[in-house]
Formats: sequence, structure tokens, C-alpha cells
Amino acid sequence: MNKISEILKQSINDLEDAVSPEEIDKIRIKYLGKKGVFTSELKKLAEIPKEKRPEFGQKINDAKTVFMDKLSSHSSEIENKLLNDKLNQKSIDVTLKGFRSETGGRHPISLVRAKIEKIFINSGYKIKTGPEIEDDYHNFTALNIPENHPAKAMHDTFYLGKDKLLRTHTSPVQIRSLLAEGAPIRIIAPGKVYRCDSDQTHTPMFHQIEGLVIGKDISFANLKSVLHEFVESFFERDVTLRFRPSYFPFTEPSAEVDILWDEEKWLEILGCGMVHPNVLSNAKIDPKIYSGYAFGMGIERLAMLYYGVKDLRTFFDNDLTFLRQFS
Ligand code: DAH
Repeated sequence: MNKISEILKQSINDLEDAVSPEEIDKIRIKYLGKKGVFTSELKKLAEIPKEKRPEFGQKINDAKTVFMDKLSSHSSEIENKLLNDKLNQKSIDVTLKGFRSETGGRHPISLVRAKIEKIFINSGYKIKTGPEIEDDYHNFTALNIPENHPAKAMHDTFYLGKDKLLRTHTSPVQIRSLLAEGAPIRIIAPGKVYRCDSDQTHTPMFHQIEGLVIGKDISFANLKSVLHEFVESFFERDVTLRFRPSYFPFTEPSAEVDILWDEEKWLEILGCGMVHPNVLSNAKIDPKIYSGYAFGMGIERLAMLYYGVKDLRTFFDNDLTFLRQFS
């Protein structure tokens, strides 16, 4: 029993002499480690008579508890002291140069989208959006793309189970807006679209802007002049366009529009046409009274031409060296 008291006294003395966390740690190991003093005393319990064991055991554990309390209070004292010393030594040099946090920039796709929106807003178009998770009816059927039609297969659709899909184009917003607002209407619908396709010129997600104008006495000539004006405002220069006959189920007649690039090659930039009477009927608009045009373009495609970007995928790599050029 006396020996235990001695050990406790010695351990407390040791602690009081310690001035650093390292020393505290050494003392902790000396007394509480696997081969520590308290630990070996506990091991010795087996050697003493059975009836004395509880009393001894209790004594050792009490001593250990006292030691541990002291250990923790002394070690926080030391840490506080070290911290205070540090704070007293280090004063702040307010003349040192600081770190400025960097401001980010808008993504080139957002910049181009905003530029396109502005041009159309200035011509009286309203901006509409629709859901990215669409149903088969709005994405295909209502747009005069029937079941089993090859045009439907060409869309490489991501299906999300029964009757839900990621919209493959912004054209379904035509139907939704007409059903909600009726005619006349003059809108553009920008947004994300999805197709199961990936290579140098395709990413599974990309952006389109849809345009729709429905009214009375609207002609293909109106469509031509609107698009010509748009493309010239967008590229901020005179541009030669070519309207090439094409096919889309939701327009009749349909055309693809090419732009003369570098005075030598034709590049396709959008699809368009006069809205098909079936589409108008599906959207509860009387095709005998109303007519109009629609167009759809890929924002990435325009951004690549505008900025001279060669690989579409660089828009989505999140490479800051690339992105900083636009901020
Ligand atoms: N939705 C078509 C596509 O994704 C693009 C398009 C073509 C939209 C002609 C139109 C249009 O509104 O009239 O390929």
C-alpha cells in the first residue's frame, strides 16, 4: 500500500517538472504504457493472496485516476502557455502584401447563350423553359414524330424507365408553351438537351435554343430575314447564309441553314422550317387560322465558331487555363 502511495507521489512530481507536450507524453508512457509502472503493479495483483486483491486493486486504480486527472490538467496548462507565448511573440505585420481571392468568370457557353438571348429579347421574343425530364408525348409524338419513325431512332434517347426520358431537343417547349399560352406567340427556349452520343463533336449533354413564332400571315420569307438578321448580329459582321432543303417531322417545309465560313466552306448552324399543321393541332392551335416558323440551334456549335474552339469537349473539361480566356 505504501509503495502505491510512493509511486503516485513520484508520478505527480514527474508531471510537475514537465514543461513540454513531449515530456508529458514520455511520462504518460512511463506510468500508463504497456510496461508502465501502474500497469505492472496491476499485473502483480495475481501474486498476492486472493482476499487482499480487491483492496489493492482499488488502491492502484484510485492512484491511477488521480495521476490521469493531473496529467490532463497539466497538459492543458502547458498547451495554453505555449499558445500564449506564441501569440505574444508574433505580432502581425499589417504592411505585408495580402492574398486577393480570385474572381471567377462566366462559362463561354453561358456567355454565348446570353448573347443569343439578348438579340432575340431585343426583337420582342420572350424566354421560355421546359423540363429536362420529358415524356414521350412532348418530346416526340406531339412534334409529329410517330412511334417507330426513323427520326425517333436518330435521337439516341436516354430513357428513364416507362414514359420518362431526358429531352433530346428543346422542341418540346414549343408544345408546352403553345398549350399554356396559345397563339400568337413569339418565344425562344434555351436549355440543356441530352443524347447518348460522345466523340469530338458530340457530348451526351449539350445546349440548344429553340425559336417559335406563331401568328397570322407568317411566311417563310419572314423566317429567312429573322435568321439572317440574327446571325449577323451574333457574329457582328455581314454573313452569307444558305437555306438548304431538309426534313424535320415538325416543320414543313424544312431547311438547314449553312453559313459561308472563311469565304470557302459552308458550315451548318441550325435547323428551321414552317411549323407543321399537325404540330399546331396537337398544341390546340387552329392551323387554318395560324401559321408560323420554328428554328433550333446548338449553342456549343455557335460558341465554337464564335471563339474558334476546335474540340467541343473542351467546354466541359473544367480546365481553368481554357476557361480563364473567357473571363
Ligand atoms: N429539334 C431539332 C434537333 O434537335 C432542331 C430543329 C430543327 C428545331 C428544325 C426546330 C426546327 O424548331 O424547326 O435536331
